[in-house]
Amino acid sequence: MSSSIESQVREVLAEQPLQEGALLPLLHAIQERLGHVPPAAVPLLAEHLNLSRAEVHGVISYYHFFRSTPPGRHVVQVCRAEACQSRGADALLAHAEQVLGCAAHQTRADGAVTLEPVYCLGLCASSPALQIDDQMHARVTPQRFDQLIAKLEGLR
Ligand code: FES
Repeated sequence: MSSSIESQVREVLAEQPLQEGALLPLLHAIQERLGHVPPAAVPLLAEHLNLSRAEVHGVISYYHFFRSTPPGRHVVQVCRAEACQSRGADALLAHAEQVLGCAAHQTRADGAVTLEPVYCLGLCASSPALQIDDQMHARVTPQRFDQLIAKLEGLR
């Protein structure tokens, strides 16, 4: 682990109160700080929380939200939960894959974008929904998707 990553993980561990059920908040905090949860954080978390490495790894792999590799410069998250599915989320995700040149769960080879299916962004009444970086968008048609993507740098 690079000392920079290790020190950032250690900083996150030191900042958070040690309490029951601390693993998920810590994983969120690490991903927020680093953009992902590096595999090398697993032994640090295990030691800090007195858990086995397998327990920590199991939680990370159970929740699709956590990435083990750094994301692209932009992150596009397409909701695939029920309400969005009923309003064309599958077609929207297929469109996103084609336009971005990037399969779901992948980062494009040039590192410009990561495409992630997610399960509910809280915009169910205005589906289909997606999130691009920190910005949520509702009622997204393929045409609207193209407009949103055109505003991002380095994606074409
Ligand atoms: S189901 Fe897509 S935002 Fe809730």
